Amino acid sequence: MDQAQHRLRLGVNIDHVATVRNARGGAYPDPLRAALLAQAAGADGITAHLREDRRHIRDADMAALREGCSLPLNFEMAATAEMQALALATRPHAVCLVPEKREERTTEGGLDVAGDAARLADYIAPLREAGARVSMFIGHDPRQIEASARIGAAVVELHTGGYCDFHAEGRFAERDAELAALAEGARLAHSLGLEVHAGHGLSFDTVAPIAALPEVVELNIGHFLIAESIFIGLEPAIREMRARMDAARAGIVSA
Ligand code: PXP
Repeated sequence: MDQAQHRLRLGVNIDHVATVRNARGGAYPDPLRAALLAQAAGADGITAHLREDRRHIRDADMAALREGCSLPLNFEMAATAEMQALALATRPHAVCLVPEKREERTTEGGLDVAGDAARLADYIAPLREAGARVSMFIGHDPRQIEASARIGAAVVELHTGGYCDFHAEGRFAERDAELAALAEGARLAHSLGLEVHAGHGLSFDTVAPIAALPEVVELNIGHFLIAESIFIGLEPAIREMRARMDAARAGIVSA
């Protein structure tokens, strides 16, 4: 499998550095400083989600990340007119479209690309023209994967939240079924010419089986890394995640 030869990229999501900062309303801790530490620890990209309610990352953070960090910036956002204008102004390396509900604590489900295909095709056209690599954050449902390919997305990011939740709850049969469905989804997406990413809820305990999926070329991981950094520091947390990803990947290369 050719993808297995590629080093799996790690995008570090620094949203929750901003969550901690905003808890006190000041300037500390600075998400840009976290991005630079992530870079030093071997991250391949920085992901930040500018939510409609600005609960963590703010407009100024996006500009600072774009200006101050040389890693590719992955701008996560809802498919609204406001965010499209901000993304076009920021000119990030990548844009990842996610569903967003004000009342949710985090991104709970995947985007309904199949149900909104015509609008999303129009929506992503200017972003693609501006050179952004456009990604759809979706579940493993084949309809959503096929619709993402049809509308011209370059990437799908498969939502691993369900798999991680089942693991945390000890529901291992359901976890394994979810993993099998993610594997099937990754194969389908790759066969349709989509680049395959994955993320949401990943931790040291859950990352290996996802990292071992040969079609997956990038993982985006945030909350666990920022939380773990409280105990062991951000750089060691990222290095440990990187090591686990590489070990899982090495398993498939030598298999
Ligand atoms: N990928 C996407 C599209 C997301 O929306 C998020 C959460 O912002 C992540 C990855 C990272 O999830 P987590 O913070 O749980 O690692």
